[in-house]
Amino acid sequence: MSTPGIKVFAPASVSNLGCGFDILGLALERPGDEIIARMTDRKELRITEITGDKGQLPRNIHENTVTIAAAALLKHLGEEGRGIDFEIHKRMPFASGLGSSAASAVAGVVAMNELLRRPLEKRDLLPFAMQGEQHASQAWHADNVAPSLLGGIILVRDNASLDIHRIPAPRGLYLAILHPHILIQTADSRKRLPKNVALSDLVTQTGNLGGLIQGLYQSDFKLISRCLQDVVIEPHRSKDIPYYTEIREAALGTGALGCLISGSGPSMFALCDNSLLAEACGIAMKSVLKKHQLRCDLYISGIHAEGAMKY
Ligand code: HSE
Repeated sequence: MSTPGIKVFAPASVSNLGCGFDILGLALERPGDEIIARMTDRKELRITEITGDKGQLPRNIHENTVTIAAAALLKHLGEEGRGIDFEIHKRMPFASGLGSSAASAVAGVVAMNELLRRPLEKRDLLPFAMQGEQHASQAWHADNVAPSLLGGIILVRDNASLDIHRIPAPRGLYLAILHPHILIQTADSRKRLPKNVALSDLVTQTGNLGGLIQGLYQSDFKLISRCLQDVVIEPHRSKDIPYYTEIREAALGTGALGCLISGSGPSMFALCDNSLLAEACGIAMKSVLKKHQLRCDLYISGIHAEGAMKY
């Protein structure tokens, strides 16, 4: 026997935002994950259905980010004996740089918290969603999970203690996101990054990070644009993305504030100061891959203010 169940949406996210490797991220209005969770009298977690994954995500509850995160929350609450069935509807690509595993982990804990009638505040669900994300990315960074859970633009001051802060999103900020149809696993991509950073690059990167935060607080689009650079990670990861420079030039030539890699890629985002420009940038970016006969998806999205929610 099971209850009628609840439905939760958790948004995709763009992490790093260029100069904020592992510490900056924002939530998207679309795409995202949807989960339906129901209480049962079976005294165990189950994944009863996954759609949209072409059979590629694990059905085993000890390997799926949704149930790993949900089980961590149940353990914390001393409710391990609960029976919950999960239906997972992947409404976004995975291994895409759009925080797919983070969205799943977030949807899992939010659904669980709702079913148990909200024993925790949303903010306090973060460490449990992080456990699901850690399993997938084999690293502990909250720059996808925190915005997917809480919405908006989030600065992670410290990943270990999950010291996170909301940064204001200027009115009008819109993104064009191009997702080329290649897979990049975050864990693999991280292993290939160099372990050391040159001092001169550190100075440039931290200057841009400080300037970006200031620009977001002041809605200073020119300052934001000057700061949308990445001298540390982009030189390495951009090599994995076909026609990266051409796509970037197409977006900047159309008027984007900046165009960089979303998370560990292969998706690229162009940040724009209005939705019409984001649409024009998206078309320009997509036309590059079309010219080279490569398949891709295009998303045009504002910033999701609320983050994961029951609906
Ligand atoms: N900050 C992480 C990385 C995000 O760039 O590896 C992964 O989506």
